[in-house]
Formats: sequence, structure tokens, C-alpha cells
Amino acid sequence: MSKVICGLSVSVDGYITGRDPGPGRGLGDGGTLFDWYGSGNVPSRVFSGFRLSAPSARIFDELASRVGASLAGHATYTDSNDFADGAPHPTAPLVVLSHTSFPPANDRQTIVSTGIADAVQTAKDRAGGKDVGLMGGVLVTEALKAGLVNELILHQIPILLGGGRPFFHELPHHIRLSILEVVAAPDVTHLHYQVEGATETAEAAR
Ligand SMILES: NC(=O)c1ccc[n+]([C@@H]2O[C@H](COP(=O)([O-])OP(=O)(O)OC[C@H]3O[C@@H](n4cnc5c(N)ncnc54)[C@H](OP(=O)(O)O)[C@@H]3O)[C@@H](O)[C@H]2O)c1
Repeated sequence: MSKVICGLSVSVDGYITGRDPGPGRGLGDGGTLFDWYGSGNVPSRVFSGFRLSAPSARIFDELASRVGASLAGHATYTDSNDFADGAPHPTAPLVVLSHTSFPPANDRQTIVSTGIADAVQTAKDRAGGKDVGLMGGVLVTEALKAGLVNELILHQIPILLGGGRPFFHELPHHIRLSILEVVAAPDVTHLHYQVEGATETAEAAR
């Protein structure tokens, strides 16, 4: 069954961007969050142009290979110039969640404006039996509230950014995690968690 996973680059103080992100400057002043994509000498098998350290390449490619569809919050979408160039994933189609409807930037995109459960189900339908990769801190928090996230991966960068957009927002209750894997690579620590008690289907979350 298709799982819902979220792996984001995050500072030690919990930010997925630096200060002042916006269209065309998706990490604000926190550009160092993505340095590990190019700081090694092992080419990614999934993302051309990425050269990672050996431990990071193994983890990055395992996760990227699992993704059959991406699901992004609208802010991630606009700050990445609507992914009009075909990103964020070389093969997976993109679903975007917003409260409003608007035309997609290309035919690999689907805009959903009917809530998080519909967005996750749409992404699962597009994923061809593979997993759904979430992008955006507000979005992943909404999915956690709905019990729809199976795994969280924090690619934790050794920096305190001091401000920016947080990975996690307030939740109405505790959510327990179990540790699947922790790998310390040269410039990033990969923290892979399973979310306990996740709902198996988006229908059940409605
Ligand atoms: N460090 C990393 O690895 C990484 C990865 C991805 C993204 N980012 C960065 O993260 C930033 C964006 O993250 P973010 O947390 O600010 O925002 P986000 O989660 O990407 O998007 C939030 C928006 O998504 C829509 N949305 C979310 N939940 C919804 C719901 N339940 N129903 C309807 N619409 C919903 C809303 O759009 P509307 O306002 O249109 O209704 C909301 O304003 C960007 O700057 C991006 O570059 C970093």
C-alpha cells in the first residue's frame, strides 16, 4: 500500500527555510539547508546533477526512488516559481493543496482545493502504487493532524538559522514516533522516524 512520507532539510532549531523566503528564493537566507545535495562525490541515481556523500546518497536515493507523486503546500509551490520547469521530482507528478483553485503551471500538476484528505488521496491515485512525498511545513502538520503521515525524515543540518518557516506547527495532541534509522553523514544527520497510529487510507481521515 502507498505510504505518505515527508523528508525535508531542517536546521537544528527546526526551520525548513531561513528568513524571508518568497518566489524564486525558496529558502530565504537559509540556502545552506540544501548544500548537502552537492557537497559529495557520489552522483544521485535519481536526481541528475546531485553529488552527495556516500551515506547521504544511499539515503537520498532510497527515499527519492520510493516517491511516485509529490504533494506540496501552496507556499512551497509559489516559492519554487510554481515548479513550472518540471521539478520537484524528475518522474513523479505534483499535487498542490490550496484553499483556492487556480490553473496548474503544466500538465504534470493537479491543484486540489477540497482539503488535506482529498489531496493525499489524489496524490496516492497519481503515485502508481509508489509512495507520496510531502513538501511544506503547514502541509505536513495538516497531514499529521489528519493521521495521514506514515514516516518523517529530518535531514538535519548543523546550523541554528534563528528564524524562518518551521517544519512543525502546533498539534492538538502528542504523536509518538519510533526511530527507524539515524545516520550521521559528513554535513547532515538523517533522522528517519515512523509515525505511530497513522491512518491507512485518506478515506478514513475524512
Ligand atoms: N527545507 C526543505 O527541505 C523544504 C522543502 C519544501 C519546502 N520548503 C520551503 O518551505 C516553505 C513553505 O512551507 P510552509 O510551511 O510555509 O507552507 P506550505 O506547507 O508549503 O504551504 C502552505 C499553504 O498550503 C495550503 N494548505 C496547507 N494546508 C491546507 C489545508 N488543510 N487546506 C487547504 N490548503 C492548505 C495553503 O495555501 P493557500 O494559502 O493558497 O490556501 C497554505 O497557505 C517554502 O518557502 C519552501 O521553499 C523547504
